[in-house]
Amino acid sequence: MIVCKTKSDLRRHLETLGTNPFIGFVPTMGALHKGHLSLVRQAKRENEISVVSIFVNPIQFDNADDLVKYPRNIDDDLPLLERVHCDVVFIPNEQEIYPTPPTETYDFGELEEVMEGQYRKGHFNGVATVVKRLFDIVKPSTAYFGEKDFQQLTIIRKLVENEHLPVEIVACPIVRESDGLAMSSRNVRLSVEDRRIAPQIHKILRDARDLVGIFEPDKLKGFVIDQLKHIPRTKLDYFEIVDSKTLRPIQQWQASSRSIGCVAIYLSDVRLIDNVKF
Ligand code: PAF
Repeated sequence: MIVCKTKSDLRRHLETLGTNPFIGFVPTMGALHKGHLSLVRQAKRENEISVVSIFVNPIQFDNADDLVKYPRNIDDDLPLLERVHCDVVFIPNEQEIYPTPPTETYDFGELEEVMEGQYRKGHFNGVATVVKRLFDIVKPSTAYFGEKDFQQLTIIRKLVENEHLPVEIVACPIVRESDGLAMSSRNVRLSVEDRRIAPQIHKILRDARDLVGIFEPDKLKGFVIDQLKHIPRTKLDYFEIVDSKTLRPIQQWQASSRSIGCVAIYLSDVRLIDNVKF
């Protein structure tokens, strides 16, 4: 596994690997877990070269405290990537990605106005800025993103469409702990007690699936919100049932898997997101 810290190092290395090799790219912010590793395995399977970036992107944090507390664990990340036979790791510093303060502004219309967009101002512009810059550096044929950040995935597809980027976006299913909790870098910040109750979030979403068609979407939304509010030490940001393409809240059930229920909820001071397809 080659570790590159600068753009020029990375480009030089990739150029030694032949002309236009198929590159599968997994952008991450580190603190890697099995969810990330499943993306890397898929990137490896489907391409000639797998590239993973580790960069905690400051401009996608709307809250300074969240940026400070974001877990960083490069000493554990590298051996994990070795173990899944990742070919190249790109670990740039801030100066490499943002030699001057970034000024890009992207417009994703209503896709960025709902859910995360309402609670994390500027977040998606920060994500789009770094992902576009990383794509320009790595030049992947395919990039892999987890479905846990469903709205991010939708926004990145839109970025690729709007900017005519020559990269295929592959969505990968949420990887869960055996008790159902969606894997997330933030889970390590949960206290023992909060970790014990965190799987209730997914259980409530899963149970809600059985009520699709029995309750109208609005009634189901109210039911889920009520259940979520009963989990101790939580503060709900939102639970929305939206069309998985437009992210517009739905009034009526549609063809299977077109609707998705998305949640963002604080458990003590840790913000967790999850979703389930209806
Ligand atoms: O999903 C993430 O970890 C980040 O938002 C990403 C896509 C690596 C951009 O910083």
